[in-house]
Amino acid sequence: MDGNGRWAAQRSLPRTAGHKAAETAVIDVIEAAHAAGIPWLSLFAFSTENWRRPDGEVDFLMELVRRTIRKHALTLHARGIRCRFLGDSDIRIPPDLARDIADLTTLTRDNRRMTLTVAFDHGGRRDIVRAARSLIRNRVPAEQVTEESFAHHLPYPDTPDVDLVIRTSGEHRISNFMLWQVAYAEWTFPHVLWPDFRATHFWECLDSYRGRERRFGAVRIPTPTGKS
Ligand code: IPE
Ligand code: MG
Repeated sequence: MDGNGRWAAQRSLPRTAGHKAAETAVIDVIEAAHAAGIPWLSLFAFSTENWRRPDGEVDFLMELVRRTIRKHALTLHARGIRCRFLGDSDIRIPPDLARDIADLTTLTRDNRRMTLTVAFDHGGRRDIVRAARSLIRNRVPAEQVTEESFAHHLPYPDTPDVDLVIRTSGEHRISNFMLWQVAYAEWTFPHVLWPDFRATHFWECLDSYRGRERRFGAVRIPTPTGKS
C-alpha cells in the first residue's frame, strides 16, 4: 500500500493526512476481495524499515491502526474474515495496540471465509533468518532441510504462495515483503496512489492477473488440438 505521503503532498497536507485517507482504500479492498471470494488477502501496512520514519509519523500510524481495528473488528468478524498479523506485534509496538491486535486475532481465529494477513512490523528477510534459527534450534539435520521443511519454520506456515502482488503508486520494488512466499508471484504496479485505490482498481489488477500465463519456470506444452 504505497503512495500515502505523495497523495498528501499533492494536496499540501501533512503526510499523516495521506495515511488517514488510506483507511477507505483498505476497507474497500477488503470488501472487494471478500465479495470476490478470494480466500487469502495480505496487506503490507508497516515494514521493519518503517521504524526509521519520524517519531510523529510512526506514532500516528500506530494510533491509526488501533482505531481502524477497533472500528472494524466486529464487521470483519461478521464477514467471516480471519485476521492475523505477520510481524513482531508484541515487541516494539505500543502495548495497547498489541492488545487490540491480540483481541482481533482471537475473536476471528475460527473464521474461514477469508484470511486477512496484515503485515505489520514485517520483514521478509527477518522471517527467513528466524526460520533458519528455528531449524538449528530444533536440530534438524542438514540433509532434511528442504524447501518444504524450511517453509514450515516460517511464521504462519499454512500461508500459500502469493499469486498476485499489487504495489500501488508506480514504484517497482519488493521492499522486503514476504520474500519467501512471493517467489513465483505475478506483479502489478498500478500508478494510482494508495489513498485513491478502490475496488475498481483492484478488479483491474485481477483482470490483468487472469490474462497471465503462469508457467512456474516450465514451458507450455501445446496440446494436439493446438489449444492449451
Ligand atoms: C505507504 O505510503 C504507507 C506506509 C508505508 C506506512 P508512504 O508513506 O510510503 O507514501 P509515499 O511513498 O511517501 O508516497
Ligand atoms: Mg512509500
